[in-house]
Amino acid sequence: MMIVDLDYTRRYLSLQINDVICWWWYYIKEISWQLLIALLAYLCVCIFLYALLKRVDHTAWQLPGPPDRLLLVTAHPDDEVMFFGPLVYWLTRSKVTKVYLLCLSMGTCPTDDLSWCPGSVLAGGDKRRIDELWASAKILGIPEANITIIISSELPDDQTVQWPIDEVAESILQYIEIYKINAVVTFDKHGVSRHRNHISLYFAIAALCIEKKVPPYCKLYVLESVNIIRKYIQLLDLPISLLSAPYWYLVTREQKHTIKKAMAAHKSQYVWFRKLYMVFSRYTFINTLQEVSALDLELDLQFDED
Ligand SMILES: *[C@@H]1O[C@H](CO)[C@@H](O)[C@H](O)[C@H]1NC(C)=O
Repeated sequence: MMIVDLDYTRRYLSLQINDVICWWWYYIKEISWQLLIALLAYLCVCIFLYALLKRVDHTAWQLPGPPDRLLLVTAHPDDEVMFFGPLVYWLTRSKVTKVYLLCLSMGTCPTDDLSWCPGSVLAGGDKRRIDELWASAKILGIPEANITIIISSELPDDQTVQWPIDEVAESILQYIEIYKINAVVTFDKHGVSRHRNHISLYFAIAALCIEKKVPPYCKLYVLESVNIIRKYIQLLDLPISLLSAPYWYLVTREQKHTIKKAMAAHKSQYVWFRKLYMVFSRYTFINTLQEVSALDLELDLQFDED
């Protein structure tokens, strides 16, 4: 009697387990099928948007004005092409906007191989990086005369170093006043790659804004940082970018060649991982910008205090 019972229970249990497995299997199949369809639909939206935007004029979504004189503030030679490529591409081709570039350090050369850096070694950098910046900017369409490089031992090229905000802010303000700049563009508070040098530039313009030192004719904009997944999906980020930002610049695959060539001009920097970056990064196709306003900054500060 007991033996039959045990047998029955075992059979009953295995049937139940089978049932559960079957059900899960069906469920997973169904879900992955739906995920696949969603993914394909998203892909179609991306292709459609790209094809559409290639044909239509999208200057309406670029910086308003458009600004007469624009100052791009970067931390290292090569930031202007690695992160701001599409913006610079369109600005230098616009008939209206005059572009100026302020780069706050010379960057460093690879130190393990000094043969990379012949010529005179200057404070925390090398002349070679300056030559590369000029060559690169020329390809992008910014003449040497419109580029200012600040060489200061206070501003080292270092991931971990936050630059003195006052000094950076003062340099930017001087530039705005001398050149009567209408729009300043720089990094946002995440600095795209969380590089402390990049973030210092944001803090500097935020300080100018909060202290109300920015002249009324000048507006401040920052380049949006995105999460790591969005950062490396190239054009697949297009729909999200268009929805999330008021101002954007987009280049086509053909126009991107110019940006890639400009990056290649930074010879000492153009190593394998930056080559990969140039292939996969969304920043070589899309730049999205936000305006900085004193109100937003104050809310942000309050939020940080809470
Ligand atoms: C560079 O600056 C000059 C003088 O301000 C200006 O005329 C020119 O348009 C600028 N170049 C670009 C590409 O914006």
